[in-house]
Amino acid sequence: MTAPAEAKAAHPTPTQNEKSDDSLLQIRGLNKRFSLSGDFLEQLRFKGGKLVRHQEYVHAINGVDLDIKRGEALCVVGESGCGKSTVARMVMGLITPSEGEIRYAGERIDNLSSRQLLPYRKRMQMIFQNPYASLNPRMTIQQTLEEPLRLHHPDWDREKIEQKVEDVMRSVGIDPDWGKRFGHEFSGGQRQRIAIARALAVDPEFIVADEPISALDVSIQAQVLNLLMEAQQERNLTYLFITHDLAVVEHFGTRVAVMYLGTVCEIATTSTLFAKPRHPYTQALLSAIPRLEDDRPQHIRLSGEVPTPVNLPTGCVFHGRCPHANARCKQEIPVLQTQDDGTRVACHAVEEGRL
Ligand SMILES: Nc1ncnc2c1ncn2[C@@H]1O[C@H](COP(=O)(O)OP(=O)(O)OP(=O)(O)O)[C@@H](O)[C@H]1O
Ligand code: SF4
Ligand SMILES: [Mg+2]
Repeated sequence: MTAPAEAKAAHPTPTQNEKSDDSLLQIRGLNKRFSLSGDFLEQLRFKGGKLVRHQEYVHAINGVDLDIKRGEALCVVGESGCGKSTVARMVMGLITPSEGEIRYAGERIDNLSSRQLLPYRKRMQMIFQNPYASLNPRMTIQQTLEEPLRLHHPDWDREKIEQKVEDVMRSVGIDPDWGKRFGHEFSGGQRQRIAIARALAVDPEFIVADEPISALDVSIQAQVLNLLMEAQQERNLTYLFITHDLAVVEHFGTRVAVMYLGTVCEIATTSTLFAKPRHPYTQALLSAIPRLEDDRPQHIRLSGEVPTPVNLPTGCVFHGRCPHANARCKQEIPVLQTQDDGTRVACHAVEEGRL
């Protein structure tokens, strides 16, 4: 395994801002709209004999606030299309927010140019769901792992780079002698190990992992998850870990954020969330997990479909499916409120003591 001391020493000295807060990442008022209307000419329509501009948007992210603390694994859960990957891509600077702020170690990063982002790209790395797509098929494994090192350490000589590649391959359980092979010669699990090695090669402090095990055979998911957990301990990593698998959350997460239709409905420590889910959507989500205990709550069946993010509902985005919705829920958007045990819930029924 790569020496953790070396990994830590590689990080820049914290600035004044970094020392004052244990949050490594702060997201405030984040919104992301994707236009569905094409360019200006495609937006023009005739309405009542007049030419008008018609714009339609997917409201993918709607007012997300999140803090990720140093050293934790914050899991983000929620059904397909709720905006998990969009948050991840904005955090990594792959797409720009429509509104809101993202701060990394106290410094704003959502409005930086790619050149200004370069030092953060070393500190923050991403692991994607599909290890088949994320490795360049024309590069050997050695070249794949050397590439980020050459970018972030232009002063390193060949020997130092080769030594680092060898170390990081060993640390993820890949034989360094396989460096001359190409990605397609490896199984899905081995490819994901290589993708993890690529992320770890530059000694990052923060990793965004978007469904990193869900494309793998069930038999090897646990091995790759364990590898990520070992890396976290040895390197003192912080994770933003996206998954739809609640068993993985229970095993891996320090805290959990539950998302629905581009909003965060509840954030809690993993043990609190599983023992005492507050938000009606979290309750429904957790009631679907099969449990051996006799006292498990009844499976809550939600009526209706998830609304489309093109026409967002008014008020609480969950009101059309919520068994506790009242008139206020249809008009007023609930905001996250901190409970006695530190859990944050966005729900009028919880605030009013009805739930
Ligand atoms: N480039 C885009 N253009 C238009 N709409 C998009 C774009 N990217 C994402 N969306 C929409 O934004 C919403 C959120 O998508 P996102 O991929 O973040 O969801 P997700 O929670 O990661 O889903 P999954 O679990 O399926 O990966 C969806 O309605 C999606 O269709
Ligand atoms: S705010 Fe209202 S509709 Fe939304 S989850 Fe709470 S009770 Fe249900
Ligand atoms: Mg996704």
